[in-house]
Amino acid sequence: MPSLSYDLATMKQHDRYKLLISLVIPRPIALVTTLGPTGIVNAAPFSFFNIFSESPPLAVLGLQARPNGGLKDTSAHIRDQGAFVINLVDEALGQQMNQCAVDFPPEVSEIDAAKLHLLPSEKIKIPRIAEAPAALECRHFTTLEVSAQRRLAIGEIVHVHVRDGLWDPDKMRIDMAQYRPLARLFGNFYASLGEPFTHVRQSYEEWEKERTSE
Ligand SMILES: Cc1cc2nc3c(=O)[nH]c(=O)nc-3n(C[C@H](O)[C@H](O)[C@H](O)COP(=O)(O)O)c2cc1C
Repeated sequence: MPSLSYDLATMKQHDRYKLLISLVIPRPIALVTTLGPTGIVNAAPFSFFNIFSESPPLAVLGLQARPNGGLKDTSAHIRDQGAFVINLVDEALGQQMNQCAVDFPPEVSEIDAAKLHLLPSEKIKIPRIAEAPAALECRHFTTLEVSAQRRLAIGEIVHVHVRDGLWDPDKMRIDMAQYRPLARLFGNFYASLGEPFTHVRQSYEEWEKERTSE
């Protein structure tokens, strides 16, 4: 079967976006809470998101500019307040997460619009979402302004909350059947995790032994 290949430099920005977000799936969703200048709590979902390090514990958000070139509220608040919360999203939170992506005017809190509830954080003054299965309190580490339209905001995770019953503190394991994280695909498509299975990682000696016994 013939394969397709693309030179990204010659592609239209939107096609490049569609190609990349369709191929790199599934992506987790960060429902980010920030604090606006008047004290209103803002919430917005971002799937250009992941963790990249545990020492220091770092999470990265890919924040696009608005079509008029201005900053999204989340970007401006992270710059001004120096902190944010990444509320993780499970299947039950999907619809409310999606409501938080509506382009509300700054005086409207997505928290009220989506009928969500807030809880205080431990180390930062930005509240977290009570309905979220887990929340990562972040202090702004740095922002890379990679282009006029794109910022990569890096947060240092300073405190983590996990809903009761999801986490086994003795085994240090998540209960996957209970967690049910929601994955972003592309367009309006989302997915749940399928049945988990294992691949056991081998040492080189184990791999050699298996190969020679074949
Ligand atoms: C599932 C999902 C994922 C999204 N991911 C991103 C993203 O990674 N980067 C981005 O700039 N916008 C993303 N958006 C769009 C923002 O959530 C949207 O522009 C939002 O209104 C921004 O709100 P704010 O101005 O309050 O920050 C996403 C929307 C949805 C529904």
